[in-house]
Amino acid sequence: MNISIVGTGYVGLVTGVCLAQKGHEVICVDKKSDIIKKINNMICPIYEPKLPEMLEEAVKEKRLIATSDLEFAVNNSDVTIVAVGTPFNSGAIDLSYIETCVKEIGSILEDKEAYHVVCIKSTVVPSTTDSMVRKLLEEASQKKAGCFGLAMNPEFLREGCAVDDFMNPDRIVIGAYDDKSYELMSEIYKDCFDAPILKVNLRTAEMIKYTSNSLLAAMISFANEVSNICEGIGSIDAIDVFNGLILDKRISIRSKSKVLLPGLVQYLKPGCGFGGSCFPKDVKALVTHSIQNNYNPEMLEAVLRINEIQPTIMIKKLEELIGNVKDKKIAVLGIAFKADTDDIRESPAIKIIKELLEKGSVVYATDPQAIANTKKELKGIEGLKLVKNYREALCDADAVLLVTAWDIYKKIKPKDFIKLMKRAVVVDGRRIYDKKEMEELDIAYSGIGINN
Ligand code: UGA
Repeated sequence: MNISIVGTGYVGLVTGVCLAQKGHEVICVDKKSDIIKKINNMICPIYEPKLPEMLEEAVKEKRLIATSDLEFAVNNSDVTIVAVGTPFNSGAIDLSYIETCVKEIGSILEDKEAYHVVCIKSTVVPSTTDSMVRKLLEEASQKKAGCFGLAMNPEFLREGCAVDDFMNPDRIVIGAYDDKSYELMSEIYKDCFDAPILKVNLRTAEMIKYTSNSLLAAMISFANEVSNICEGIGSIDAIDVFNGLILDKRISIRSKSKVLLPGLVQYLKPGCGFGGSCFPKDVKALVTHSIQNNYNPEMLEAVLRINEIQPTIMIKKLEELIGNVKDKKIAVLGIAFKADTDDIRESPAIKIIKELLEKGSVVYATDPQAIANTKKELKGIEGLKLVKNYREALCDADAVLLVTAWDIYKKIKPKDFIKLMKRAVVVDGRRIYDKKEMEELDIAYSGIGINN
């Protein structure tokens, strides 16, 4: 099928490249000419495993082209997928990029005779597609919905494994304005993806996306709340508590003495909080939208409050171990919001670094991928040194905070901390180190979820 995709950010580009790989003809559209140039020259503009190779193949085989010409893209495709950003501004998501883009598509549709489906893939609060988007398209095209198709097809891509998630989806959700829109949308997926296709209305599709991220975020905050309760009581390791919890047959499956853990269980782990461009923004947006629709979502508000506090617990633990942190050299391992990404948006590490700097520490932070983004975000902040590797960060440090669970940091041995640091003091925000091993070598160790 001929598909145009507006927005070549992380969602749009992954979608475009993967659909091209599945045999569709894809036109990617973006206003940024430098990105268009890069894509057409087979240079991947974002960090995402597997994407560069697949982009190269798709462009070489002429199944994917990029352009700034939206009119060309709409006129040469059957479906336009909108994947522009919906940033979070003053308490709610900002729909201005969607608005602009949908108006432009609408005016192109005024002169297009062939049936065309407009599909929203950007994460938008429930009712956006069937109210705002539909109205703008109808006004700009001078046609009623039905003459053109309208759909909402949320994405469930995790950064760092977005390509695998797209190619092997758990489910494909298609919210459709009418049967005709649904039929065309399902053509994109039905013969080339092995996953159930869920046909729902537009609002339900939008809500499935928010519910999915809200549940995962809630599981993390639940784990952190239990962890904080355990720490308050003392002599309980929250990790042991969760190891006991997940053996429940309703949570995991036992098969021939093996315990099979569903992926969801990975989110039931105490840590220094969730981040990224999705969970914080989506939960906040749903809270605001819910209040605007006359329901006060107390549980989701608590999910956010717990997540605000969680990074500060790292500093509290550090102060318990070394006292005043002023003028101390503190190493921070990991700045990205999770491993295998260069994304630092809403990362707990940023909050932790800022708080340490406010308290007068000298911070040596490192990350295998996120240094360039951190330089942009924290440019010129006094007291912060961004270093290439963990050895440089640990060298002569008074303490280290482990914030992101990169594999390379999991491999650091207790004796490395002793050898490299001035004082071997370790605060483990992701519980990747063995407390017993650390203490056997007299390392001062503290981890989220333990207090004894
Ligand atoms: C998340 C969802 O997982 C995707 O399904 C969704 O499509 C995406 O948001 C989105 O809305 O676009 P992502 O933010 O890339 O994807 O990251 P996750 O891997 O889910 O991580 C989110 C948070 O959960 C991070 O703070 C991470 O540290 C934490 N996490 C992640 C865990 O606690 N355990 C894990 O096993 C994985």
